[in-house]
Amino acid sequence: MAKLAKLDDIVSLCKRRGFIFQSSEIYGGLASCYDYGPLGVELKNNVKKAWWKSTVQMRDDVVGLDCSILMHPMVWKASGHADKFADLIAECKKCNSRSRVDHLQDKDAEHSDEHTTHADIDAELATAHDMSNKVCPACGAVGQFTEPMPFKLMFETQMGANVDDSMLVQLRPETAQGIFANFKNVLDSTRVKIPFGIAQIGKSFRNEVTTKAFIFRTREFEQAELEFFCEPGTDEQWYQHWKEARFNWYLDLGIKKENLHFRDHDPDELAHYAKACVDVEYKFPFGQGDWQELEGIANRTDYDLRQHQRGIRSLNNWFESDKDLIRTKLIEESEDYLKGPLSYFDDQNKKRFIPYVIEPSAGIDRSALAFLVDAYDEEEVRGETRNLLRFHPALAPVKVAVFPLVKKDGMPEIARRIYDDLKGLFNCFYDEKGAVGRRYRRQDEAGTPFCVTVDGQTKEDNTVTVRDRDSMDQTRVNTTQLRTFLREKLDL
Ligand code: GLY
Repeated sequence: MAKLAKLDDIVSLCKRRGFIFQSSEIYGGLASCYDYGPLGVELKNNVKKAWWKSTVQMRDDVVGLDCSILMHPMVWKASGHADKFADLIAECKKCNSRSRVDHLQDKDAEHSDEHTTHADIDAELATAHDMSNKVCPACGAVGQFTEPMPFKLMFETQMGANVDDSMLVQLRPETAQGIFANFKNVLDSTRVKIPFGIAQIGKSFRNEVTTKAFIFRTREFEQAELEFFCEPGTDEQWYQHWKEARFNWYLDLGIKKENLHFRDHDPDELAHYAKACVDVEYKFPFGQGDWQELEGIANRTDYDLRQHQRGIRSLNNWFESDKDLIRTKLIEESEDYLKGPLSYFDDQNKKRFIPYVIEPSAGIDRSALAFLVDAYDEEEVRGETRNLLRFHPALAPVKVAVFPLVKKDGMPEIARRIYDDLKGLFNCFYDEKGAVGRRYRRQDEAGTPFCVTVDGQTKEDNTVTVRDRDSMDQTRVNTTQLRTFLREKLDL
């Protein structure tokens, strides 16, 4: 039976073995910011590679993109983020700490039902919030909160050095908008036809009121997003398709089925752009074992392309055109509007429409955390505890470690030659220090699937041992067969 990891076990393993460090640790750290160490960066890159492979490489209907983090301020006006992307917060009058209103619990409430979605702030503001029984999570005071107020989530910065022409810009809170803004560029420069998707992996930033649990919710984070464009009316079918595909991706990479489920968003939780949304949730070891979002799959309808169509149309008089809703609606329903640059002409069926979008949006950091937690195991071996990470080979930071049994009799030279031969195929590690048993344990803890050991017999018959991390079984393999043997086992 695999041992359930506690978050403390994971945090300590991550620091000890160089997966994840606190950012700016030498200066006492910067809250909610983390750095990936030598093993962590390999794991994270592997998570991204696995996502890209299944979402882009293996499909004929998805292309990739890599957009800048800073975008024209109109992007955020049109997308709704400038006005709607906020959390409702309240300040405790006793200790002055601020909390998200949807995270506050009533006195005597049994448990929190926290969801991470940022709901439409207009709808939130219209809801009457009874604050009289809410408990401050910082000082425990009851009913001491101010009236709820909106807190904008986008980070802002100044672009340009000159006072006259410098501009306030935002760090993107989602990678998706770079995809919508490039929809026409991709259509014009490739042969894609609807239905098709555009995928992107990159950093996003949100000035979260509350961060959470190690790398689970941080203010700077990496997203893997796919915007899949389809004809209106086919959106439900694609929504189902992507729900299934994305759920299976986690299972195929080794997440245990009992730790994964779907959770549909309630209507009052939906983001301002979504018609429907479902989260893929993982049972994280926070608190009593918390189901938390790894990924959201949303039906964004034609909201974003329509909004950008309006945005570019009224670049210089956005506010005027926005006020005149009846006129705007008539324009949007007219032929002219549909001929705008963000519409799509289906030349087979001779029709023009603004595509609907299904968006699977995954958090790379929280996926990496889920893969770490799920792979974590401890077992008793001959009276000793063996710590190991049972990573899927595609995710393992190091695929193969190569050792000489002892540091003499020509063994290091042969082991080095094997290492040099294998390292062009996959990430390998060479180690000749200390007892071989300890070297195996170090690789178990790093999640390395195979250890190759050169021993006394190697010189006689040209064979080495290949030790399997999970079973600890050792197989003798001829060095001439080693590449093929490992390639097949690793299935990379
Ligand atoms: N693009 C969806 C999200 O960032 O949550």
